[in-house]
Amino acid sequence: PHEVARVKNLNLIQIGKHEVETWYFSPYPIEYAYLPILYICEFCLSYFPGVKQLSRHRVKCTLQHPPGNEIYRKDDISFFEIDGRKQKVYCRNLCLLSKLFLDHKTLYYDVDPFLFYVMTMRDEDGAHFIGYFSKEKESSEQYNVACILTMPQYQRMGFGRLLIAFSYELSKVEKRLGSPEKPLSDLGLLSYRAFWAETIVSLLVDQQKTGIELSIDDIANRTAFQPTDVLHTLQNLNALKYYHGQYVIVLSDTVIKNNERAMKKKKREVDPKALNWKPIH
Ligand code: COA
Ligand code: NA
Repeated sequence: PHEVARVKNLNLIQIGKHEVETWYFSPYPIEYAYLPILYICEFCLSYFPGVKQLSRHRVKCTLQHPPGNEIYRKDDISFFEIDGRKQKVYCRNLCLLSKLFLDHKTLYYDVDPFLFYVMTMRDEDGAHFIGYFSKEKESSEQYNVACILTMPQYQRMGFGRLLIAFSYELSKVEKRLGSPEKPLSDLGLLSYRAFWAETIVSLLVDQQKTGIELSIDDIANRTAFQPTDVLHTLQNLNALKYYHGQYVIVLSDTVIKNNERAMKKKKREVDPKALNWKPIH
């Protein structure tokens, strides 16, 4: 309906306490696209041409967290589930914002078929937007994530890993195996590969103590990863060996050492007990 700019014009947004440089074009209405800075309400994600308009808005906007149901809370981290059909304006604003950092994904004007899982970090001012992923309500391809984003000011701090881990916790509750929608961006692929490898190696190392071997399908069922993602991860780790006429999974010392080192970094984990959620279908 609105005329949109076709090239990237918007270079800077302000959201919460952060000024953030944008990466890609996003189809904000043309009267906003040429502003030096776009001001975004960090709670409802509405956008404004100036700081005055934003502060006037904040007087009326009483949100201190995303709309929708808080389905997870652990320490200062929460997840909110937001139905695209019920919160169209918020979800469209979320898509516009995230498109600023997503190159190839088409923008979904039709947000109805999606659920949005927004992750926040709480302090005395409210639940601040860190990142999110979207998920089709019905995915014929068994995708459990459509788009995924950590806001740039929070990247490389383990939040992407937390978003990915959360998406698989939902799949476990659904008793489904999931995979992210393809194609993934370079950053998306790096993050997924790291997560798959870490999860699978940790599982196999734990399992070794029991003496019972796991097949690729066993690994898939325990992690909610699709078998092809398990297979590719094992191939990338060079962990599949052909032995006496069949494939066996063998972790090299280097793989195990690297995993120990990765696990030593203090990481936020998803606590399944803090998830209060039932699938809607
Ligand atoms: N360079 C190298 N490795 C990277 C990386 C980068 N820029 N970003 C992530 N990784 C890998 C690392 O192994 C990292 O672990 P480490 O920091 O312990 O080395 C691991 O992924 C997880 O990183 P994490 O901090 O949990 O991810 P993040 O919060 O930065 O979020 C994305 C990852 C993909 C969500 C984020 O980069 C993003 O939003 N990108 C823009 C949108 C996008 O491309 N989304 C995916 C397409 S659908
Ligand atoms: Na307010």
